[in-house]
Amino acid sequence: LNNETQQLLKLHDKAAKLYHHILINTPAGQSALNYLRKRGMSDELIDQFGLGYAPDQRILKPFFEQQKIDYQLLRKSGLFSENQQGELRDRFVERVMYPIKNGQGQVIAFSGRLLTNETDLPKYLNSPETPIFNKRRTLFNFDIARKSARKNGKLYLFEGFMDVISAFGAGVTNGIASMGTSFTEEQVAIIGRATSQLDICYDGDEPGQNAIDRAISLVNDHRSKQLQVKVVQLPAGIDPDEYVQKYGAKQFSAYLVNKEETTVEFYLRFLKNGKNLDNQNELMSYLNQALKVIAQVDAPLEEDMYLQQLASEFNLDRQTLRTQINQLRQQLG
Ligand code: UTP
Ligand code: MN
Ligand code: MN
Ligand code: MN
Ligand code: MN
Repeated sequence: LNNETQQLLKLHDKAAKLYHHILINTPAGQSALNYLRKRGMSDELIDQFGLGYAPDQRILKPFFEQQKIDYQLLRKSGLFSENQQGELRDRFVERVMYPIKNGQGQVIAFSGRLLTNETDLPKYLNSPETPIFNKRRTLFNFDIARKSARKNGKLYLFEGFMDVISAFGAGVTNGIASMGTSFTEEQVAIIGRATSQLDICYDGDEPGQNAIDRAISLVNDHRSKQLQVKVVQLPAGIDPDEYVQKYGAKQFSAYLVNKEETTVEFYLRFLKNGKNLDNQNELMSYLNQALKVIAQVDAPLEEDMYLQQLASEFNLDRQTLRTQINQLRQQLG
C-alpha cells in the first residue's frame, strides 16, 4: 500500500468514527437515531454497520484542520466538495451515513441518506470516485458476506443498503448490495471469486425486475468460472428491507428459501410482462421467446420440465414444442 492510500483509509476511518459518535452520543444525532429506530434498526445493527450522522453544521473540515491534515489529501478524499475558489466544504450534511468498505473491511467511501423522502435532492448521496473508491468494483457488505458465503454456499444480491442491513438483522449475513440497479462486470468477477452461487433479490417493482434481467445477462456474459445464478422475486411493490419490517425475520428467511427459482422460471414469467396472451400473435411471440430461453438449458430433464409446463399452461402439444425448440437450436447454432 502506498502512503496516499494509507492516509486516505485513515481519514475515512476517522470520519466514520466521528459520524458514528455524533449519531450515538450527541443531541445533534438524535433525529437521525429516531429515524433509524423507526425503521427498525437495533443498536446492534447500527453498530455492526457503523452507521453515523452528518449533522447540519459542517463538522468534518474543522475536525481535520485541527489535526493539521494536508489540504491535498482532504481534496482527494471525496469527503468534501470544492468551490470555484478551491475552498473545501463537507460534502455530507444532514444525512444518515452508511460507511462503504472494501473487501478487507476498511472504509473507502460513504453514502448519505436524507431523513426525509424529498424529491429535489438525491435520496442517497455517494462519495465520488477517489484513489481508494472505484464504485464499479465495490459491493456493499462484501467483506462480511464473503465469509458468511463460505458456510452458506451462496451470496444474496440486493439493491440497497437497508436491504442488506435488514437481511443481516434477520440472520441473512451473506447479503451484498450493488448499490442501485446498475450491476457491473467487475462486480460479477469479484462475486465469482467468492462463491459459486448468486441469488438475485432485487426490489419487487418494475425497475427491480428489469434489473434482474440485466443482471442475469451480465453474469451469463461474464462468468469467470462456474457462477450459478438464481432469482428470488419479491412481492409487487416491496423491497427486502420492507419485507423484513412487515413480515419479520423468520418469514423473510423462509421466503428466500421457498421462492428461490431458476433464471428460466424467472424469464417464463418476466416475458409475459406487457403481453396480452389472449391475443394469438402476442401468445406466439411469447412462446417463441420462452422457447429461446429454454433452448439454453443443457440438462434434458430440466428442459423437459419447462416444456411440460408450457404445454399444460397453454394447452399445447409437448411434441410440437419440442420440434419447435429443436428448430430454434439449429437456427441459433
Ligand atoms: P432504492 O431506490 O430502492 O432505495 O435504491 P432503498 O435502498 O429502498 O432506500 P430506502 O429504503 O428508501 O432508504 C436502491 C439503492 O440504490 C442506491 C442506494 O444504494 C440504494 O440503497 N441509490 C438510490 C443511490 O445511490 N442514490 C439514490 O438517490 C437512490
Ligand atoms: Mn457504537
Ligand atoms: Mn429500488
Ligand atoms: Mn428499495
Ligand atoms: Mn427500501
